[in-house]
Amino acid sequence: MDDQHGVLMDAINELRLALVRGSGHERICELLDQFIEFTRMHFWSEEQLMEQTGFAGLDEHRAEHHRMLAEILQAAHRLQYGETLHLRPLLCQLHDGFLEHIEQVDQEYGPWLRERGIC
Ligand SMILES: [Fe+2]
Ligand SMILES: [Fe+2]
Repeated sequence: MDDQHGVLMDAINELRLALVRGSGHERICELLDQFIEFTRMHFWSEEQLMEQTGFAGLDEHRAEHHRMLAEILQAAHRLQYGETLHLRPLLCQLHDGFLEHIEQVDQEYGPWLRERGIC
C-alpha cells in the first residue's frame, strides 16, 4: 500500500507540474484520467483488505474515500469545461488532502493488518 501511496502522490505532482509548465489540455486530461483510475484502484484495494479482515473503521474510511473521489471528479469536470485556472488551487487542495489521508486515516488500518500478517 505504501508503494501505491507513492505512485498517487507522484501522479498529483506530475499533474501540478504539467499545469505550471502550461502543458496542453489533452495532456492534462490524460494525466488526470490516469490519476482517477489509479485512485479508484487504490481505494478499492484498501477497502477490500479492510473488508476481508473485518476492520471496524471501514465504513468511515470508505465514506472518506468517496468524498475524496468526488473532489477529483469535480476537478475533471472543471477541466472538461476548460477551467484550468481554477484547477491549480483545487489540485493543491487535493495534494494536501491526500497527504493528510495517507498520513492519518490510512495509518489507522496499518497496525491492524500487520497484526494479521498482511502488510
Ligand atoms: Fe491509501
Ligand atoms: Fe484510504
